Amino acid sequence: MYIYRTHNCGELRVSNITNQVILSGWIHSIRKMKKKYFIDIRDYYGITQLLIKKEDVKEIIKNEYLIRIKGIVVKRKFVNKNLKTGEIEIIVEKINIINKSKKLPINIYNNLKENKNKLLKYRYLNIRNLEIKKNLIIKSKVLNIIRDFFNKNKFLEIETPLLVKSTSEGARTFIIPYRNKKGYFYSLPQSPQTFKQLLMIGGIDKYYQIVKCFRDEDYRQDRQPEFLQLDIEESFVNIKQIINRIVKFIKFLLNKLYDIRFINIKKISYKNSIKLYNTDKPDLRNKIFIIFIKKKYINKKYRLKKILSFIIPNFFNIINFDFNNLLIFLKRKIKKKYIYIFDFKNKVNYNKDNIFKNKYIIRKIINKKFFSKYDILFLLLFSSKKKYNKIYNSIINKINSFLLKSIYSKQIYIPIVIYNYPLFKFNYLKKKYESFHHPFTEPKTKINESKKDKILANSYDVIINGIEIGSGSIRINNKKLQKKIFLLLGLSKKKINNNFGFFLRALEYGTPPHGGIGIGIDRLISSLLNKKDIKDFIAFPKNFYSKDLMIKSPTKINRKKLLKLGISIIKK
Ligand code: AMO
Repeated sequence: MYIYRTHNCGELRVSNITNQVILSGWIHSIRKMKKKYFIDIRDYYGITQLLIKKEDVKEIIKNEYLIRIKGIVVKRKFVNKNLKTGEIEIIVEKINIINKSKKLPINIYNNLKENKNKLLKYRYLNIRNLEIKKNLIIKSKVLNIIRDFFNKNKFLEIETPLLVKSTSEGARTFIIPYRNKKGYFYSLPQSPQTFKQLLMIGGIDKYYQIVKCFRDEDYRQDRQPEFLQLDIEESFVNIKQIINRIVKFIKFLLNKLYDIRFINIKKISYKNSIKLYNTDKPDLRNKIFIIFIKKKYINKKYRLKKILSFIIPNFFNIINFDFNNLLIFLKRKIKKKYIYIFDFKNKVNYNKDNIFKNKYIIRKIINKKFFSKYDILFLLLFSSKKKYNKIYNSIINKINSFLLKSIYSKQIYIPIVIYNYPLFKFNYLKKKYESFHHPFTEPKTKINESKKDKILANSYDVIINGIEIGSGSIRINNKKLQKKIFLLLGLSKKKINNNFGFFLRALEYGTPPHGGIGIGIDRLISSLLNKKDIKDFIAFPKNFYSKDLMIKSPTKINRKKLLKLGISIIKK
Protein backbone atom coordinates (compact mmCIF):
# COMPACT_ATOMS: atom_id res chain seq x y z
CA MET A 1 0.00 0.00 0.00
CA TYR A 2 1.14 3.49 -0.86
CA ILE A 3 2.14 5.50 2.20
CA TYR A 4 1.87 9.29 2.02
CA ARG A 5 3.82 9.96 5.18
CA THR A 6 5.62 8.33 8.08
CA HIS A 7 5.90 11.65 9.92
CA ASN A 8 4.39 15.11 9.60
CA CYS A 9 6.36 18.23 8.66
CA GLY A 10 6.59 19.57 12.22
CA GLU A 11 7.65 16.41 13.95
CA LEU A 12 11.23 15.45 13.22
CA ARG A 13 13.94 16.17 15.79
CA VAL A 14 17.59 15.31 16.49
CA SER A 15 16.45 11.92 17.88
CA ASN A 16 15.28 11.00 14.37
CA ILE A 17 18.73 11.46 12.78
CA THR A 18 19.57 8.52 10.44
CA ASN A 19 15.86 7.56 10.18
CA GLN A 20 14.44 7.00 6.75
CA VAL A 21 11.21 9.01 6.50
CA ILE A 22 8.43 9.86 4.08
CA LEU A 23 6.82 13.31 4.21
CA SER A 24 4.01 14.90 2.22
CA GLY A 25 3.30 18.60 2.05
CA TRP A 26 3.20 21.81 0.06
CA ILE A 27 6.36 23.48 -1.19
CA HIS A 28 6.71 26.52 1.04
CA SER A 29 9.83 27.87 -0.63
CA ILE A 30 12.65 26.80 -2.95
CA ARG A 31 16.20 28.10 -2.83
CA LYS A 32 18.17 27.02 -5.85
CA MET A 33 21.93 26.59 -5.46
CA LYS A 34 24.39 25.48 -8.15
CA LYS A 35 24.17 21.74 -7.57
CA LYS A 36 21.34 21.34 -5.07
CA TYR A 37 17.99 22.75 -4.01
CA PHE A 38 16.89 23.66 -0.51
CA ILE A 39 13.16 23.14 -0.24
CA ASP A 40 10.94 23.98 2.72
CA ILE A 41 8.04 21.57 2.86
CA ARG A 42 4.96 22.59 4.86
CA ASP A 43 1.88 20.89 6.24
CA TYR A 44 -0.61 21.63 9.03
CA TYR A 45 2.00 20.77 11.67
CA GLY A 46 5.02 22.73 10.53
CA ILE A 47 7.90 23.16 8.12
CA THR A 48 10.87 20.89 7.43
CA GLN A 49 13.94 21.68 5.34
CA LEU A 50 14.78 19.31 2.49
CA LEU A 51 18.03 19.05 0.62
CA ILE A 52 17.92 17.54 -2.86
CA LYS A 53 20.46 17.15 -5.67
CA LYS A 54 19.54 19.14 -8.75
CA GLU A 55 19.76 16.08 -11.00
CA ASP A 56 17.23 14.21 -8.83
CA VAL A 57 14.54 16.81 -9.57
CA LYS A 58 13.17 15.40 -12.81
CA GLU A 59 10.09 17.59 -13.13
CA ILE A 60 9.57 21.33 -12.72
CA ILE A 61 8.63 22.16 -9.15
CA LYS A 62 7.10 25.39 -7.91
CA ASN A 63 5.82 26.92 -4.69
CA GLU A 64 2.60 25.35 -3.39
CA TYR A 65 3.06 22.18 -5.43
CA LEU A 66 2.08 19.24 -3.26
CA ILE A 67 4.96 16.76 -3.03
CA ARG A 68 5.85 13.49 -1.38
CA ILE A 69 9.46 12.83 -0.50
CA LYS A 70 11.48 9.92 0.83
CA GLY A 71 14.81 10.59 2.53
CA ILE A 72 17.19 10.36 5.48
CA VAL A 73 17.13 12.71 8.46
CA VAL A 74 20.50 14.41 9.08
CA LYS A 75 21.84 17.10 11.41
CA ARG A 76 21.79 20.63 10.01
CA LYS A 77 24.93 22.68 9.68
CA PHE A 78 23.19 25.94 10.58
CA VAL A 79 20.42 25.54 13.15
CA ASN A 80 17.25 27.56 12.52
CA LYS A 81 15.93 28.53 15.94
CA ASN A 82 12.65 29.77 14.47
CA LEU A 83 11.60 26.29 13.42
CA LYS A 84 10.67 23.39 15.68
CA THR A 85 12.45 21.16 13.19
CA GLY A 86 15.33 23.63 12.88
CA GLU A 87 18.07 21.26 14.04
CA ILE A 88 17.58 18.70 11.27
CA GLU A 89 17.08 18.49 7.52
CA ILE A 90 16.31 15.65 5.14
CA ILE A 91 18.54 14.44 2.36
CA VAL A 92 15.96 13.54 -0.26
CA GLU A 93 16.34 10.29 -2.22
CA LYS A 94 13.06 10.47 -4.09
CA ILE A 95 10.58 13.20 -4.85
CA ASN A 96 7.09 12.84 -6.43
CA ILE A 97 4.60 15.51 -7.29
CA ILE A 98 1.21 14.52 -5.81
CA ASN A 99 -0.60 17.55 -7.23
CA LYS A 100 0.42 20.69 -9.07
CA SER A 101 -0.76 24.14 -8.05
CA LYS A 102 -1.49 27.21 -10.11
CA LYS A 103 0.31 30.36 -8.99
CA LEU A 104 -1.61 31.55 -5.95
CA PRO A 105 -3.82 34.57 -6.69
CA ILE A 106 -3.12 36.05 -3.25
CA ASN A 107 -0.09 36.49 -1.09
CA ILE A 108 -1.09 34.28 1.79
CA TYR A 109 1.82 35.35 3.96
CA ASN A 110 1.31 39.07 3.79
CA ASN A 111 -2.40 39.67 4.07
CA LEU A 112 -1.99 43.34 4.86
CA LYS A 113 -0.99 44.11 1.30
CA GLU A 114 -3.87 42.18 -0.27
CA ASN A 115 -7.32 43.29 -1.28
CA LYS A 116 -9.65 42.13 1.51
CA ASN A 117 -12.36 40.86 -0.85
CA LYS A 118 -9.83 38.83 -2.78
CA LEU A 119 -8.64 37.23 0.44
CA LEU A 120 -12.22 36.19 1.17
CA LYS A 121 -12.75 34.90 -2.36
CA TYR A 122 -9.75 32.62 -1.91
CA ARG A 123 -10.35 31.95 1.77
CA TYR A 124 -9.40 28.27 1.41
CA LEU A 125 -5.93 29.38 0.34
CA ASN A 126 -5.75 32.06 2.99
CA ILE A 127 -6.41 29.40 5.62
CA ARG A 128 -2.93 28.11 4.71
CA ASN A 129 -1.71 31.28 6.42
CA LEU A 130 -0.36 30.20 9.80
CA GLU A 131 -2.07 33.07 11.63
CA ILE A 132 -5.56 32.04 10.51
CA LYS A 133 -4.77 28.41 11.18
CA LYS A 134 -3.66 29.36 14.70
CA ASN A 135 -6.95 31.20 15.25
CA LEU A 136 -8.97 28.16 14.22
CA ILE A 137 -6.91 25.98 16.53
CA ILE A 138 -7.58 28.34 19.45
CA LYS A 139 -11.28 28.35 18.64
CA SER A 140 -11.35 24.57 18.70
CA LYS A 141 -9.52 24.62 22.06
CA VAL A 142 -12.02 27.10 23.47
CA LEU A 143 -14.92 24.91 22.33
CA ASN A 144 -13.35 21.94 24.10
CA ILE A 145 -12.84 23.94 27.29
CA ILE A 146 -16.47 25.10 27.17
CA ARG A 147 -17.70 21.52 26.83
CA ASP A 148 -15.34 20.41 29.60
CA PHE A 149 -16.61 23.08 32.05
CA PHE A 150 -20.30 22.63 31.41
CA ASN A 151 -20.18 18.86 31.34
CA LYS A 152 -18.26 18.87 34.65
CA ASN A 153 -20.98 21.10 36.09
CA LYS A 154 -23.69 18.71 34.90
CA PHE A 155 -25.17 20.90 32.16
CA LEU A 156 -26.94 19.04 29.39
CA GLU A 157 -26.00 19.90 25.79
CA ILE A 158 -29.24 20.13 23.82
CA GLU A 159 -29.80 21.36 20.28
CA THR A 160 -32.70 23.60 19.39
CA PRO A 161 -34.28 24.10 15.94
CA LEU A 162 -32.96 26.44 13.27
CA LEU A 163 -36.19 26.69 11.28
CA VAL A 164 -38.26 28.74 13.71
CA LYS A 165 -40.49 31.79 13.90
CA SER A 166 -39.34 35.32 14.54
CA THR A 167 -39.34 36.35 18.19
CA SER A 168 -37.74 39.73 17.42
CA GLU A 169 -34.60 40.05 19.50
CA GLY A 170 -33.69 43.43 18.16
CA ALA A 171 -32.09 42.72 14.79
CA ARG A 172 -33.69 41.91 11.44
CA THR A 173 -34.47 38.24 10.87
CA PHE A 174 -33.51 36.01 7.95
CA ILE A 175 -36.47 34.16 6.50
CA ILE A 176 -36.83 30.94 4.54
CA PRO A 177 -39.81 30.12 2.31
CA TYR A 178 -42.09 27.22 3.22
CA ARG A 179 -42.67 24.96 0.21
CA ASN A 180 -46.13 23.73 1.12
CA LYS A 181 -47.95 27.00 1.56
CA LYS A 182 -47.47 30.11 -0.53
CA GLY A 183 -46.52 33.18 1.46
CA TYR A 184 -45.44 31.25 4.56
CA PHE A 185 -41.95 31.45 5.96
CA TYR A 186 -39.67 30.07 8.63
CA SER A 187 -37.25 32.39 10.42
CA LEU A 188 -33.69 31.64 11.36
CA PRO A 189 -33.18 32.15 15.11
CA GLN A 190 -31.39 35.26 16.39
CA SER A 191 -30.67 33.08 19.42
CA PRO A 192 -32.36 30.07 21.04
CA GLN A 193 -33.81 32.36 23.75
CA THR A 194 -37.40 31.09 23.91
CA PHE A 195 -36.38 27.48 23.32
CA LYS A 196 -33.94 27.42 26.21
CA GLN A 197 -36.61 28.87 28.45
CA LEU A 198 -39.03 26.18 27.24
CA LEU A 199 -36.40 23.59 28.19
CA MET A 200 -36.46 24.97 31.74
CA ILE A 201 -40.26 24.66 31.73
CA GLY A 202 -39.66 21.12 30.50
CA GLY A 203 -37.70 20.44 33.68
CA ILE A 204 -34.20 20.38 32.17
CA ASP A 205 -32.31 21.87 35.07
CA LYS A 206 -29.14 23.08 33.36
CA TYR A 207 -28.74 23.52 29.62
CA TYR A 208 -25.95 24.65 27.32
CA GLN A 209 -25.43 24.69 23.61
CA ILE A 210 -22.80 25.87 21.15
CA VAL A 211 -25.12 27.22 18.55
CA LYS A 212 -25.22 29.22 15.33
CA CYS A 213 -27.32 32.41 15.57
CA PHE A 214 -28.45 34.52 12.64
CA ARG A 215 -28.96 38.28 12.56
CA ASP A 216 -29.41 40.60 9.63
CA GLU A 217 -27.62 43.63 11.04
CA ASP A 218 -25.46 46.42 9.68
CA TYR A 219 -21.82 45.45 9.42
CA ARG A 220 -19.32 46.03 12.20
CA GLN A 221 -15.97 44.37 12.76
CA ASP A 222 -17.41 42.54 15.73
CA ARG A 223 -20.53 41.32 13.92
CA GLN A 224 -21.28 38.60 11.43
CA PRO A 225 -24.72 37.65 10.09
CA GLU A 226 -24.15 34.12 11.35
CA PHE A 227 -22.08 33.71 14.47
CA LEU A 228 -21.45 31.20 17.21
CA GLN A 229 -22.96 31.55 20.65
CA LEU A 230 -22.42 29.70 23.87
CA ASP A 231 -25.96 29.59 25.16
CA ILE A 232 -26.60 28.76 28.81
CA GLU A 233 -29.69 28.49 30.98
CA GLU A 234 -30.18 27.28 34.53
CA SER A 235 -33.22 26.79 36.79
CA PHE A 236 -33.68 27.79 40.45
CA VAL A 237 -30.93 30.39 40.45
CA ASN A 238 -30.84 33.97 41.63
CA ILE A 239 -28.84 36.70 39.93
CA LYS A 240 -25.88 36.29 42.29
CA GLN A 241 -25.64 32.55 41.68
CA ILE A 242 -25.84 32.78 37.90
CA ILE A 243 -23.25 35.59 37.76
CA ASN A 244 -21.07 33.42 39.97
CA ARG A 245 -21.40 30.54 37.51
CA ILE A 246 -20.36 32.80 34.61
CA VAL A 247 -17.42 34.19 36.60
CA LYS A 248 -16.28 30.63 37.38
CA PHE A 249 -16.49 29.73 33.71
CA ILE A 250 -14.41 32.76 32.62
CA LYS A 251 -11.78 31.90 35.25
CA PHE A 252 -11.74 28.24 34.15
CA LEU A 253 -11.30 29.30 30.52
CA LEU A 254 -8.42 31.70 31.23
CA ASN A 255 -6.77 29.10 33.40
CA LYS A 256 -7.03 26.27 30.87
CA LEU A 257 -6.15 28.41 27.87
CA TYR A 258 -3.36 30.58 29.25
CA ASP A 259 -2.61 29.15 32.67
CA ILE A 260 -3.80 32.40 34.26
CA ARG A 261 -4.62 31.52 37.86
CA PHE A 262 -5.49 34.58 39.84
CA ILE A 263 -7.97 36.84 38.31
CA ASN A 264 -10.34 39.08 40.16
CA ILE A 265 -13.50 39.65 38.18
CA LYS A 266 -15.06 42.94 39.21
CA LYS A 267 -18.80 43.42 39.33
CA ILE A 268 -19.95 46.95 38.65
CA SER A 269 -23.52 48.22 38.47
CA TYR A 270 -24.57 49.83 35.20
CA LYS A 271 -25.13 53.13 37.00
CA ASN A 272 -21.63 53.17 38.48
CA SER A 273 -20.05 52.14 35.21
CA ILE A 274 -21.64 55.07 33.43
CA LYS A 275 -20.70 57.40 36.25
CA LEU A 276 -17.08 56.28 36.45
CA TYR A 277 -16.29 55.43 32.84
CA ASN A 278 -19.15 56.98 30.84
CA THR A 279 -19.71 53.62 29.16
CA ASP A 280 -21.11 50.20 30.05
CA LYS A 281 -18.19 48.58 28.27
CA PRO A 282 -15.18 49.95 30.10
CA ASP A 283 -11.74 48.71 29.19
CA LEU A 284 -10.14 48.62 32.60
CA ARG A 285 -6.70 47.77 31.30
CA ASN A 286 -6.01 51.42 30.73
CA LYS A 287 -7.04 52.46 34.26
CA ILE A 288 -8.21 55.79 32.94
CA PHE A 289 -10.16 57.50 35.67
CA ILE A 290 -12.64 60.17 35.01
CA ILE A 291 -12.24 62.98 37.49
CA PHE A 292 -14.75 65.64 38.23
CA ILE A 293 -13.69 69.21 38.10
CA LYS A 294 -15.79 71.88 39.67
CA LYS A 295 -17.30 74.50 37.40
CA LYS A 296 -15.60 77.28 39.33
CA TYR A 297 -12.29 76.19 37.84
CA ILE A 298 -13.39 77.16 34.39
CA ASN A 299 -13.41 80.65 33.10
CA LYS A 300 -17.00 81.91 32.99
CA LYS A 301 -16.38 83.47 29.60
CA TYR A 302 -16.51 80.06 27.90
CA ARG A 303 -19.84 78.83 29.24
CA LEU A 304 -18.84 75.22 28.90
CA LYS A 305 -21.35 72.52 29.56
CA LYS A 306 -19.21 69.49 30.07
CA ILE A 307 -15.63 68.61 30.85
CA LEU A 308 -14.11 65.29 30.11
CA SER A 309 -11.19 64.92 32.42
CA PHE A 310 -9.27 61.84 33.12
CA ILE A 311 -5.94 60.63 34.32
CA ILE A 312 -3.72 57.72 33.50
CA PRO A 313 -1.76 56.12 36.32
CA ASN A 314 1.99 56.03 35.99
CA PHE A 315 2.44 52.38 36.84
CA PHE A 316 2.01 51.64 33.18
CA ASN A 317 5.27 53.39 32.57
CA ILE A 318 4.06 54.72 29.31
CA ILE A 319 6.96 55.15 26.98
CA ASN A 320 6.77 57.02 23.74
CA PHE A 321 3.23 58.15 24.20
CA ASP A 322 2.79 60.21 21.10
CA PHE A 323 1.15 63.33 22.54
CA ASN A 324 1.54 65.47 19.47
CA ASN A 325 -0.16 62.93 17.27
CA LEU A 326 -2.95 62.61 19.77
CA LEU A 327 -3.31 66.36 19.82
CA ILE A 328 -3.77 66.38 16.05
CA PHE A 329 -6.59 63.84 16.42
CA LEU A 330 -8.24 65.73 19.26
CA LYS A 331 -8.03 69.02 17.38
CA ARG A 332 -10.19 67.49 14.68
CA LYS A 333 -12.85 66.79 17.29
CA ILE A 334 -12.75 69.84 19.54
CA LYS A 335 -11.43 73.36 19.39
CA LYS A 336 -7.77 73.52 20.23
CA LYS A 337 -8.20 75.94 23.10
CA TYR A 338 -10.47 73.45 24.86
CA ILE A 339 -7.75 70.81 25.08
CA TYR A 340 -5.33 70.47 27.94
CA ILE A 341 -2.89 67.60 28.17
CA PHE A 342 -0.30 67.54 30.88
CA ASP A 343 2.48 65.02 31.22
CA PHE A 344 3.24 64.90 34.94
CA LYS A 345 6.42 62.96 34.59
CA ASN A 346 8.14 65.33 32.22
CA LYS A 347 6.20 68.37 33.38
CA VAL A 348 5.18 69.28 29.87
CA ASN A 349 1.99 70.91 28.79
CA TYR A 350 1.24 69.67 25.30
CA ASN A 351 -1.04 72.41 24.17
CA LYS A 352 0.08 75.81 25.25
CA ASP A 353 -2.85 77.49 23.54
CA ASN A 354 -5.47 76.16 25.88
CA ILE A 355 -7.78 78.33 27.86
CA PHE A 356 -6.21 77.16 31.09
CA LYS A 357 -2.88 78.63 30.18
CA ASN A 358 -0.98 79.71 33.27
CA LYS A 359 -4.09 79.49 35.31
CA TYR A 360 -3.45 79.43 38.97
CA ILE A 361 -6.27 76.93 39.47
CA ILE A 362 -4.88 74.39 37.09
CA ARG A 363 -1.53 74.54 38.71
CA LYS A 364 -3.27 73.96 41.96
CA ILE A 365 -4.95 70.87 40.56
CA ILE A 366 -1.87 69.32 39.11
CA ASN A 367 0.23 70.09 42.14
CA LYS A 368 -2.07 68.13 44.37
CA LYS A 369 -0.45 65.10 45.92
CA PHE A 370 -3.20 62.92 44.55
CA PHE A 371 -1.79 63.31 41.07
CA SER A 372 1.66 62.07 41.97
CA LYS A 373 0.45 58.58 41.06
CA TYR A 374 -0.44 59.62 37.57
CA ASP A 375 1.32 60.15 34.31
CA ILE A 376 -1.03 62.15 32.23
CA LEU A 377 -3.90 64.49 32.83
CA PHE A 378 -6.42 65.21 30.11
CA LEU A 379 -8.86 68.06 30.36
CA LEU A 380 -11.13 68.30 27.38
CA LEU A 381 -13.86 70.87 27.38
CA PHE A 382 -17.08 70.66 25.43
CA SER A 383 -19.50 73.33 24.46
CA SER A 384 -22.48 71.03 24.87
CA LYS A 385 -23.39 67.79 26.56
CA LYS A 386 -24.66 66.46 23.25
CA LYS A 387 -21.28 66.91 21.60
CA TYR A 388 -19.59 65.36 24.60
CA ASN A 389 -21.81 62.27 24.40
CA LYS A 390 -21.27 62.02 20.68
CA ILE A 391 -17.51 61.99 20.62
CA TYR A 392 -16.63 60.63 24.04
CA ASN A 393 -16.23 57.06 22.88
CA SER A 394 -14.15 57.91 19.84
CA ILE A 395 -11.77 59.89 22.05
CA ILE A 396 -11.47 57.12 24.62
CA ASN A 397 -10.94 54.59 21.83
CA LYS A 398 -8.23 56.71 20.30
CA ILE A 399 -6.45 57.10 23.61
CA ASN A 400 -6.83 53.36 24.13
CA SER A 401 -5.19 52.71 20.79
CA PHE A 402 -2.29 54.97 21.80
CA LEU A 403 -1.94 53.05 25.02
CA LEU A 404 -2.27 49.81 23.14
CA LYS A 405 1.08 50.35 21.54
CA SER A 406 2.88 50.47 24.84
CA ILE A 407 0.89 48.25 27.18
CA TYR A 408 -1.73 46.24 25.40
CA SER A 409 0.70 43.97 23.67
CA LYS A 410 1.03 42.36 27.08
CA GLN A 411 -1.38 39.57 27.85
CA ILE A 412 -3.66 41.40 30.25
CA TYR A 413 -7.31 40.41 30.62
CA ILE A 414 -9.72 42.33 32.72
CA PRO A 415 -13.13 40.70 32.58
CA ILE A 416 -15.92 42.52 34.39
CA VAL A 417 -19.61 41.92 34.95
CA ILE A 418 -21.92 44.91 34.58
CA TYR A 419 -25.29 44.34 36.24
CA ASN A 420 -28.59 46.11 36.94
CA TYR A 421 -29.13 47.52 33.49
CA PRO A 422 -32.28 49.52 32.80
CA LEU A 423 -35.18 47.36 31.59
CA PHE A 424 -36.03 49.71 28.74
CA LYS A 425 -34.27 52.24 26.55
CA PHE A 426 -35.85 54.92 24.43
CA ASN A 427 -35.29 54.64 20.69
CA TYR A 428 -35.20 58.22 19.45
CA LEU A 429 -35.53 57.24 15.79
CA LYS A 430 -38.59 55.05 16.30
CA LYS A 431 -39.81 57.27 19.13
CA LYS A 432 -40.65 54.34 21.36
CA TYR A 433 -39.33 52.30 24.24
CA GLU A 434 -37.47 49.07 23.53
CA SER A 435 -36.05 46.39 25.78
CA PHE A 436 -32.49 47.14 26.82
CA HIS A 437 -31.76 43.42 26.47
CA HIS A 438 -34.85 41.48 25.38
CA PRO A 439 -38.47 41.27 26.51
CA PHE A 440 -37.93 38.12 28.59
CA THR A 441 -35.74 39.92 31.14
CA GLU A 442 -37.11 40.10 34.67
CA PRO A 443 -37.62 43.60 36.10
CA LYS A 444 -35.73 44.20 39.32
CA THR A 445 -37.71 47.17 40.48
CA LYS A 446 -41.43 47.97 40.53
CA ILE A 447 -42.98 48.83 37.19
CA ASN A 448 -43.89 52.48 37.11
CA GLU A 449 -45.34 53.05 33.65
CA SER A 450 -44.79 56.79 33.74
CA LYS A 451 -41.09 56.37 34.56
CA LYS A 452 -40.03 53.59 32.24
CA ASP A 453 -36.41 54.81 32.15
CA LYS A 454 -36.08 54.27 35.86
CA ILE A 455 -37.08 50.58 35.91
CA LEU A 456 -34.07 48.37 36.52
CA ALA A 457 -33.62 44.81 35.26
CA ASN A 458 -32.11 41.65 36.70
CA SER A 459 -29.67 41.63 33.81
CA TYR A 460 -25.92 41.56 33.27
CA ASP A 461 -23.27 41.75 30.57
CA VAL A 462 -19.78 40.31 30.56
CA ILE A 463 -17.08 42.62 29.23
CA ILE A 464 -13.49 41.62 28.53
CA ASN A 465 -11.05 44.45 27.82
CA GLY A 466 -13.84 46.73 26.64
CA ILE A 467 -15.57 44.18 24.40
CA GLU A 468 -19.08 42.97 25.23
CA ILE A 469 -18.78 39.23 24.95
CA GLY A 470 -22.00 38.12 26.58
CA SER A 471 -25.30 39.22 27.85
CA GLY A 472 -27.94 37.60 30.03
CA SER A 473 -30.59 37.92 32.70
CA ILE A 474 -32.96 36.31 35.11
CA ARG A 475 -36.15 35.69 33.12
CA ILE A 476 -39.76 36.44 33.73
CA ASN A 477 -41.46 33.19 34.81
CA ASN A 478 -44.98 34.51 35.08
CA LYS A 479 -47.47 34.92 32.26
CA LYS A 480 -49.14 38.08 33.58
CA LEU A 481 -45.88 39.97 33.92
CA GLN A 482 -44.58 38.72 30.57
CA LYS A 483 -47.73 39.93 28.84
CA LYS A 484 -47.49 43.28 30.59
CA ILE A 485 -43.93 43.76 29.32
CA PHE A 486 -45.01 42.99 25.75
CA LEU A 487 -47.79 45.56 26.09
CA LEU A 488 -45.43 48.15 27.57
CA LEU A 489 -43.21 47.62 24.53
CA GLY A 490 -46.14 48.65 22.38
CA LEU A 491 -47.00 45.22 20.92
CA SER A 492 -50.66 44.81 20.00
CA LYS A 493 -52.64 41.96 21.56
CA LYS A 494 -52.85 40.36 18.14
CA LYS A 495 -49.10 40.50 17.61
CA ILE A 496 -48.45 39.17 21.10
CA ASN A 497 -50.76 36.28 20.37
CA ASN A 498 -49.27 35.56 16.93
CA ASN A 499 -45.63 35.82 17.93
CA PHE A 500 -45.62 34.70 21.53
CA GLY A 501 -48.90 32.85 22.12
CA PHE A 502 -47.05 29.53 22.44
CA PHE A 503 -44.67 31.03 24.95
CA LEU A 504 -47.29 32.69 27.15
CA ARG A 505 -49.20 29.42 27.18
CA ALA A 506 -46.08 27.55 28.32
CA LEU A 507 -45.52 30.01 31.18
CA GLU A 508 -48.81 28.85 32.73
CA TYR A 509 -47.53 25.41 33.71
CA GLY A 510 -45.43 25.94 36.82
CA THR A 511 -42.44 27.66 35.20
CA PRO A 512 -39.38 27.50 37.47
CA PRO A 513 -37.36 30.65 38.19
CA HIS A 514 -34.49 30.61 35.70
CA GLY A 515 -31.74 32.66 34.15
CA GLY A 516 -28.83 32.39 31.77
CA ILE A 517 -26.55 34.08 29.31
CA GLY A 518 -25.52 34.08 25.66
CA ILE A 519 -21.79 34.49 25.04
CA GLY A 520 -20.53 35.35 21.55
CA ILE A 521 -17.76 32.82 21.00
CA ASP A 522 -16.15 34.64 18.06
CA ARG A 523 -16.09 37.84 20.08
CA LEU A 524 -14.83 36.05 23.17
CA ILE A 525 -11.82 34.72 21.27
CA SER A 526 -11.14 38.01 19.53
CA SER A 527 -11.07 39.75 22.92
CA LEU A 528 -8.69 37.10 24.27
CA LEU A 529 -6.35 37.59 21.34
CA ASN A 530 -6.61 41.37 21.36
CA LYS A 531 -8.10 41.49 17.87
CA LYS A 532 -11.08 43.47 16.68
CA ASP A 533 -12.22 41.65 13.55
CA ILE A 534 -14.16 38.47 14.32
CA LYS A 535 -13.74 37.33 10.70
CA ASP A 536 -10.29 36.16 11.75
CA PHE A 537 -11.88 33.49 13.93
CA ILE A 538 -14.43 32.19 11.46
CA ALA A 539 -13.27 29.71 8.83
CA PHE A 540 -15.59 31.04 6.12
CA PRO A 541 -16.84 34.51 7.07
CA LYS A 542 -19.00 36.94 5.14
CA ASN A 543 -17.84 40.33 3.96
CA PHE A 544 -18.99 43.89 4.69
CA TYR A 545 -22.23 43.36 2.76
CA SER A 546 -22.96 39.97 4.36
CA LYS A 547 -21.84 38.22 1.18
CA ASP A 548 -19.85 35.03 0.88
CA LEU A 549 -17.48 36.00 -1.92
CA MET A 550 -16.04 32.52 -2.22
CA ILE A 551 -19.20 30.58 -3.02
CA LYS A 552 -20.95 33.73 -4.33
CA SER A 553 -23.89 33.82 -1.99
CA PRO A 554 -26.58 35.14 -1.80
CA THR A 555 -27.67 34.17 -5.30
CA LYS A 556 -30.39 35.53 -7.50
CA ILE A 557 -33.52 33.42 -7.82
CA ASN A 558 -35.69 34.07 -10.82
CA ARG A 559 -38.92 36.06 -10.49
CA LYS A 560 -41.26 33.28 -11.52
CA LYS A 561 -39.87 30.93 -8.91
CA LEU A 562 -40.18 33.61 -6.25
CA LEU A 563 -43.78 34.35 -7.17
CA LYS A 564 -44.51 30.65 -6.85
CA LEU A 565 -43.18 30.83 -3.30
CA GLY A 566 -45.39 33.80 -2.57
CA ILE A 567 -42.64 36.40 -2.68
CA SER A 568 -43.17 39.49 -4.77
CA ILE A 569 -40.22 41.68 -5.57
CA ILE A 570 -40.34 45.38 -5.00
CA LYS A 571 -38.61 47.06 -7.92
CA LYS A 572 -36.50 50.05 -7.02
P1 AMO B 1 -27.37 39.16 22.85
O1 AMO B 1 -28.25 39.57 21.75
O2 AMO B 1 -26.83 40.24 23.70
O3 AMO B 1 -28.16 38.16 23.83
O4 AMO B 1 -26.17 38.29 22.26
C1 AMO B 1 -25.25 37.67 23.13
C2 AMO B 1 -23.84 37.82 22.61
O5 AMO B 1 -23.73 37.31 21.29
C3 AMO B 1 -22.74 38.05 20.58
N1 AMO B 1 -23.32 38.62 19.34
C4 AMO B 1 -22.71 38.60 18.15
N2 AMO B 1 -21.52 38.14 17.77
C5 AMO B 1 -21.19 38.25 16.47
N3 AMO B 1 -21.98 38.80 15.52
C6 AMO B 1 -23.19 39.29 15.86
N4 AMO B 1 -23.97 39.79 14.91
C7 AMO B 1 -23.60 39.22 17.22
N5 AMO B 1 -24.71 39.57 17.91
C8 AMO B 1 -24.52 39.21 19.18
C9 AMO B 1 -22.24 39.14 21.49
C10 AMO B 1 -23.37 39.25 22.50
O6 AMO B 1 -22.92 39.72 23.74
N6 AMO B 1 -30.55 35.45 23.98
C11 AMO B 1 -29.70 36.47 24.53
C12 AMO B 1 -28.81 35.94 25.61
C13 AMO B 1 -29.51 35.65 26.91
O7 AMO B 1 -30.22 36.52 27.41
O8 AMO B 1 -29.28 34.55 27.43
C14 AMO B 1 -28.84 37.05 23.42
O9 AMO B 1 -28.72 36.52 22.35
O10 AMO B 1 -21.05 38.70 22.11
